[in-house]
Amino acid sequence: MLLHNSVDTDPRNKDLKSIYIYEAPVRLWHWVMFIAIAVLIVTGLLIAYPPPSTNGEASAHFMFGYIRFAHFTAGYTLAVSWLLRIYWAFVGNDYSRQLFLVPIFNRIWWQEFLYDVKSYLFLHVREIKYSGHNPMAQAAMAFMFTPAAFFMMITGFAMYSEGAGKGSWSDKVFGWVIPLFGQSQDVHTWHHLCMWVIVMFVIVHTYMVMRQDVTTRESIVSTMVSGYRTFKD
Ligand code: HEM
Ligand code: HEM
Repeated sequence: MLLHNSVDTDPRNKDLKSIYIYEAPVRLWHWVMFIAIAVLIVTGLLIAYPPPSTNGEASAHFMFGYIRFAHFTAGYTLAVSWLLRIYWAFVGNDYSRQLFLVPIFNRIWWQEFLYDVKSYLFLHVREIKYSGHNPMAQAAMAFMFTPAAFFMMITGFAMYSEGAGKGSWSDKVFGWVIPLFGQSQDVHTWHHLCMWVIVMFVIVHTYMVMRQDVTTRESIVSTMVSGYRTFKD
């Protein structure tokens, strides 16, 4: 097992050309989540800024119903995917746990983190090769995206419980959230605000993976498709 991500600092990996990192469930989860979050952002914005009414008799169409249906379907998909992803962190390989276990007490991890910050700031060209996530990406995924996704699911199902009604499973599990925030509109506002944290993550994440793909000596985007990280000399 690697103590940290850098391949270069582990002498066993000196001549490594490729390594299997992301198992199928992690890859599938990633792309399912990508689609679910894209749908959630688009439909969430439509819920927040509803389009003008459509022409004709209201009973003849169900536009807002479809928008909310798509939001809730994607919301359920996201929640079930996360439960399965947590299960996989227990039974999968070491890399499947990187999203949840950040080695913040490992000095080398911090050295690599600072090294990474400098390379993202174009202060030097990155020479280190990583097998799993690079430390900066790992920190963003674990400390920015994961808590935000959980916040969205907790507040989302709390609002959902208002429609599902007293005694529904969402009311039993998340009913306490609304009084905690004050009232329904407060939950709406926080749910809405946190969406922007996710939007920022997605922009930065996409930039980071594309940039690493072209500027470093390891494969990045294709790794989330095939599971293999390949290294150039
Ligand atoms: C809604 C949009 C997205 C979200 C929320 C997201 C989230 C994540 C998360 C949480 C991980 C960590 C996976 C794990 O350790 O289990 C990850 C990894 C990754 N994502 Fe995304 N992602 C999104 C979109 C994209 C897109 C559009 C691309 C490709 C252009 C992409 C490429 C990758 C790659 C290559 C990795 C692995 C990076 C590495 O090996 O260090 N992601 N993403
Ligand atoms: C990344 C994940 C998510 C994003 C970006 C997102 C985005 C949004 C946005 C922007 C709104 C409008 C808030 C407002 O201004 O009033 C909203 C409403 C809502 N969301 Fe989400 N959401 C997400 C996840 C979820 C989940 C997992 C659920 C659970 C089913 C959920 C359920 C709801 C509900 C019930 C509403 C209120 C609908 C209404 O009042 O008609 N959301 N969402």
